[in-house]
Amino acid sequence: MQLLEVRALSKHFGGIRAIEEISFSVRGEVILSIIGPNGAGKTTLFNCLTGFMKPTKGSILLSEKDISALSPAGVNRLGIARTFQNIRLFREMTVIENVMVSQHAAIRYGLLASLLRSPSFRRDERVVREKSFEYLELLGLEQYAEKVSGSLSYGAQRRIEIARALATGASIILLDEPTAGMNPQETDEMMALISNLRCMGKTVLLIEHDMKVVMGISDRIVVLDHGVKIAEGAPEEIKNNPLVIEAYLGKETD
Ligand SMILES: Nc1ncnc2c1ncn2[C@@H]1O[C@H](COP(=O)(O)OP(=O)(O)O)[C@@H](O)[C@H]1O
Ligand SMILES: [Mg+2]
Repeated sequence: MQLLEVRALSKHFGGIRAIEEISFSVRGEVILSIIGPNGAGKTTLFNCLTGFMKPTKGSILLSEKDISALSPAGVNRLGIARTFQNIRLFREMTVIENVMVSQHAAIRYGLLASLLRSPSFRRDERVVREKSFEYLELLGLEQYAEKVSGSLSYGAQRRIEIARALATGASIILLDEPTAGMNPQETDEMMALISNLRCMGKTVLLIEHDMKVVMGISDRIVVLDHGVKIAEGAPEEIKNNPLVIEAYLGKETD
């Protein structure tokens, strides 16, 4: 089980302190939710954790190794994968091809073998396709395997993104607002799916604005407001925390 530790992490954009000295750690079969009002710094935190942005200060340790200077591919190789707030898929490719590409990125091919389309390449290709199909089954997408990804519903596309993240072999999965734009039924299905990731032994970091989802499935919650961590705890504690209530409702005026 990999231990992910975030230590006094800051990211500034000029004068904007998007995140400021954030610390927390997570390990094991856990759903850790990151919540906070719009602009609180949640996506910026994910961008730093996955190598898409370099933090201004602080460190990110994965099993005691500092990963804060690595590229997205480097971070991914060590076992962290993510989905995006705005879906990123190869829209023209089929569903199974999208998942296969992700797996290919994780598998090291002999360059020459792939150029020559050697028997070993074709064998690997079959294995990758079979494995990809298993990920599709896991996410209830198998009936769409040969459909063009961009033609599917929003909910299905979000599930393809998760299949792609899993296909990299990552043990830590970061989901940025996976239920955004979903109807209530799709949201319920997504909740079940996220719980299932925990059962599979994954560590899930979840950015989610739907409080019903957050309170229902999180083991622990970190609350950000204006880039600062204002609370951390179990759902029950967070629900009743006055600082959290204030951040969400705004200061009451008298
Ligand atoms: N690439 C960027 N350049 C400049 N400012 C940014 C950039 N990304 C985010 N910000 C700013 O950082 C703050 C936090 O944004 P973000 O992490 O997207 O918040 P959240 O995901 O919690 O809504 C906001 O003030 C936002 O405008
Ligand atoms: Mg965001």
